[in-house]
Amino acid sequence: MGDTEPTTGARAHRPRTAVPEALARYRAVRHSSEALIRALTPEDMQVQSMPDASPTKWHLAHTSWFFETFLLVPNLPGYRVFDARFGYLFNSYYEAVGPRQPRPARGLITRPSVDDVLAYRAHVDAGMARLLENGAGEHAALLDLGLAHEQQHQELILMDILHLFAASPLSPAYAPPRGEPRRIAAPLDYLGFEGGLVEIGHAGDGFAFDNEGPRHKVWLEPFRLADRLVTNGEWLAFMADGGYARPEFWLSEGWARVQEEGWRAPLYWREGGDGWLAMTLRGLRPVDPAAPVSHVSYYEADAYASWAGARLPTEAEWEHASAQAWHEGEFLSSGRLVPQPASAGQGLRQMFGDLWEWTRSAYGPYPGFRPARGAVGEYNGKFMSGQFVLRGGACVTPGGHVRASYRNFFYPHQRWMFSGVRLALDGAGEGASLRDDVLEGLAKARKQIPPKHFYDAEGSRLFEAITELREYYPTRTEVGLLRQAAGEIAAEIPDGAALVEFGSGASVKTRILLDAAPQVAVYAPIDISASALDEAAHAIRADYPRLTVAPLREDFTTALELPRATAGRPVVGFFPGSTIGNFTPDEALDFLKGARRLLGEGSAFLVGADLVKDEATLVAAYDDALGVTAAFNKNLLARINRELSGDFNLDAFAHRTVWNAAERRIEMHLVSLKDQAVTAAGRTFRFAAGETLHTENSHKFTLDGLAELAAKAGWRLQRRWVSAHPAFAVVLLRA
Ligand code: SAH
Ligand code: AVI
Repeated sequence: MGDTEPTTGARAHRPRTAVPEALARYRAVRHSSEALIRALTPEDMQVQSMPDASPTKWHLAHTSWFFETFLLVPNLPGYRVFDARFGYLFNSYYEAVGPRQPRPARGLITRPSVDDVLAYRAHVDAGMARLLENGAGEHAALLDLGLAHEQQHQELILMDILHLFAASPLSPAYAPPRGEPRRIAAPLDYLGFEGGLVEIGHAGDGFAFDNEGPRHKVWLEPFRLADRLVTNGEWLAFMADGGYARPEFWLSEGWARVQEEGWRAPLYWREGGDGWLAMTLRGLRPVDPAAPVSHVSYYEADAYASWAGARLPTEAEWEHASAQAWHEGEFLSSGRLVPQPASAGQGLRQMFGDLWEWTRSAYGPYPGFRPARGAVGEYNGKFMSGQFVLRGGACVTPGGHVRASYRNFFYPHQRWMFSGVRLALDGAGEGASLRDDVLEGLAKARKQIPPKHFYDAEGSRLFEAITELREYYPTRTEVGLLRQAAGEIAAEIPDGAALVEFGSGASVKTRILLDAAPQVAVYAPIDISASALDEAAHAIRADYPRLTVAPLREDFTTALELPRATAGRPVVGFFPGSTIGNFTPDEALDFLKGARRLLGEGSAFLVGADLVKDEATLVAAYDDALGVTAAFNKNLLARINRELSGDFNLDAFAHRTVWNAAERRIEMHLVSLKDQAVTAAGRTFRFAAGETLHTENSHKFTLDGLAELAAKAGWRLQRRWVSAHPAFAVVLLRA
């Protein structure tokens, strides 16, 4: 690679070693392209595997042609083009520059050879060294564009090589290994955003493509954004549930593609003897369930979202969310972690440098957009039709190339790019209510936060751990009752019924009912915890393939609407776990009234309730020796730290459990161990030593009290099953 030294007189006035910053930058980017081909043979660099892909050799030449045509020919006196015929061969799409080799026929260009192309690069590099010998000056903008352009082609080289290698029966590995998207096995969670009038688009002095501006205002309705990408494991569940076989999830054009091209899985997946394999830059490997799914089209991303009861984000939502916590984070680039403004602070992960994320935004001009003058005006603007925007950059995107405002774009059927899926939901959901409840609850004389906020992904996980504890008898006792009563309960469930469960969590107890009552046709679990609900829905779908599962991610204290799948069916409600005890008596009454409206006249409602018993048994159940309940309680503070930029010191609070005999309830508190000030959601709150934050009530019932409460809400207690010590009741109510 011959970088020639500058040969003009200016050189004499500068020490030999001082390379202008612009030239150093130019050389670094050019060098990165050449580093990519070390692992390739000349034959690898020649072949074009499909019309959308180009041979590596063509990429290497085309990026040089870009500098030659737009910088050297017009600006460097005395510059001689390397070969006048190359304009035809290596012009990509610039109509203003002239005719060109048709794109699908780039692989037919066997001459010039790879060596000739490398000599072309050296010639252009020598010219650029002369042009930049005193810095970029008036050429700075075009130089930046040329370098960003070359970086885009570095990514294209890897995309195209993967496509080529995937077509080879030998499934060769590209070496050295490149970066891969970060894996996250943790359950998916959603973060809420209030929206409103926000600004998006490039701002500031740094380089940006013309399509990233002008910065402008956008109105956003409240929305939620998933905290990570959709994983391969989740995609497998989608496939197992007939994702590629059920037209109801697909856009019409997408469904036509599925038929025409026989799609059954992401682009590079192959069925192996032992499960699915995926062709990657490291060769053929087993599909990793914790890695994000990649190489999916817009159509597939959209179908997955409808299957999951969610949608794709708009580009404005994505950009707004990513910029909310604009601070130092980690950016994965070509296998290296480099500091980069990122979004880690909001709990959003895999936002930058893992996979390009499909948005539901059509690629079009921002208000006030004008393409640059001259041929480079063809760079972006003329492609603004029929494509969708992708955000965030991928593991094959060169380091430092991506910004929050960066707009990539592809046609909805394309899937050879490193594209992945992040889900979104309408409504700020619980995220917004957490903020409101924290601001209101911490400002009270007796500080309190409603217990529904325990259940982020970590809280749901900790609750499941509680159910396994020796001291926590309710789960085990209720499971025993349900098993005993299963036959009698099943007899009360009509054929084709829809089972609607409130606070379904991991849907473990549900299985007892589903096993005993195969006549249940639809299962609608309702839970506030996205992670618990998603995992449970996947698991139930896998184990009960004939059941329609219609999850509802909602706060069950709000006015709900049942999912469409339940329409016209007899409905049976299920509210286990004594979660009814987490309401105040007034709230419990309202809830039961609401449930009666929702489930309808004549419906059955199976409710689990923990009964009053000795204090020692009760307190131990909420203050276990292993400290799991304490961790569950303190996770509320950790959640506030994560989602509302709080600074709670978890060590400065202690878990406290008390039996309030007058109110017949177990109370959980967090006791401040000292005088302290804590900031959360942008406000500061004082805690005196010994002051408590009341986090949960768990009311305990008598059978009479329960029957009376139900009656006030329009329910008749029809049957009941009660355990011996420790006493727990399951009751069947009838509307
Ligand atoms: N039914 C399961 C889980 C009980 S834990 C069992 O009996 O073991 C309580 C569940 O209710 C959690 O999954 C929690 O996320 C959910 N939950 C709590 N408050 C809620 C609310 N207001 N709306 C919807 N779900 C809620
Ligand atoms: C979900 N709910 C019924 C549990 C309970 O027992 O009140 C939550 C819980 N809190 C501490 N341990 C368990």
